[in-house]
Amino acid sequence: MTTLFKNIKELIQVREHTTEILKGNQMKELPTIKNAFLLIKDDIIIDYGSMENCPTDYDQCVDITGKMILPTWIDSHTHIVYAGNREQEFVDRINGLSYEEIYNRGGGILNSVAKLRTTSEEELYRDASARLEELIIQGTGVIEIKSGYGLDLESEMKMMRVIAQLKKNYSVAVKATFLGAHALPVEYKNNQAGFVDYICNEMIPVVAKEGLAEYFDAFLETGYFTVEETEKLIIAAHNHGLKSKIHLNQFTAIGGIEMCVKHNVLSVDHLEVVTDEDIQALQKGNTIPVALPTCSYFISIPYTPARKLLDANLPLVLASDYNPGTTPSGNMNFVVATACIKMKMTPEEAINAATYNAAFALELEKEYGSITRGKKASFIITKPLHSFYAIPYNFGSNPIEQVYLNGVSI
Ligand code: NIG
Ligand code: FE
Repeated sequence: MTTLFKNIKELIQVREHTTEILKGNQMKELPTIKNAFLLIKDDIIIDYGSMENCPTDYDQCVDITGKMILPTWIDSHTHIVYAGNREQEFVDRINGLSYEEIYNRGGGILNSVAKLRTTSEEELYRDASARLEELIIQGTGVIEIKSGYGLDLESEMKMMRVIAQLKKNYSVAVKATFLGAHALPVEYKNNQAGFVDYICNEMIPVVAKEGLAEYFDAFLETGYFTVEETEKLIIAAHNHGLKSKIHLNQFTAIGGIEMCVKHNVLSVDHLEVVTDEDIQALQKGNTIPVALPTCSYFISIPYTPARKLLDANLPLVLASDYNPGTTPSGNMNFVVATACIKMKMTPEEAINAATYNAAFALELEKEYGSITRGKKASFIITKPLHSFYAIPYNFGSNPIEQVYLNGVSI
């Protein structure tokens, strides 16, 4: 079945070739076709071009005069499986406590761990699927979802099974990440080395054997996991076939990036604090920097220095970090707007970072991230817009009229 979309005011992120991630100045250009058509066959993009060359042979036709089409957002970093909420901590921060102070009092991640351990798999699935359905309406077509609120084998497996169910039941593309080293659970208090061994020897082998994760993640940060501990974990994960995506440099820069680049880690995420040594390390390898601007927004910490990274000719990806503690929102339209407003990324750079480049952070660049022949027909039809600048400019508005996932209107 072929469907023609005609009279597209502007078809955004059109690319013939999609083999390389965009770096530095390359991110400034967002290729588009004005007054365009798009032809899909079932779930695949088969043709596009200017209306002058519009095909006459198709099964059905949708006229979208005045509206634009762009690929769905790719959110390469989320924690949407969680129990309860952290609304009280939100108010505690308003009243003056910092994220670190709350954690040091036994709250933060450990607050979510306590809640998750006593929540059933069914309830977790119900809550996570409601979040996922909202994200799809907000234009997310590809998502990575992490565990990390169980921190024992049974509870982590419960989270991983919920992610597997989401993957099975929704047409959004899902990549699953085992975040075994998110924080030190209370039963390992004063035995950090024991917990690292437990993850390496008992959790990673089981998660990998069950085929429940594509990636491994750890929170490499002062007060959480050291460079040496994270290195040990990355090697253990690698030995079980899992690549790593690592949380680091959220509050402090302690040499984690250099170690991650050495191990060819797929992405390093957060980077609110970046040193010159970190930049030099990133320039030497293929590890992808991922910024999470709505986390900075929500907990009032510095924004990832996007200009510094782009001036160093590095690539950049934007993701939401949707989680109950630091970013209880996964709206990628707002992520893109925040990157423009607070990180001084241009709309072209921000859209590239949240679509085309983001696909590389999940190794899905052959299927998603651009309007390209042979890629999946997962795209957003906007409301009538003056230009695509309106997406970040009218921040907080919903620019989306309709979402197609794999050729099907949602
Ligand atoms: O990416 N920083 C580590 N992990 C999450 C926050 C988790 C939480 O507070 O629940 C993050 O911000
Ligand atoms: Fe995160």
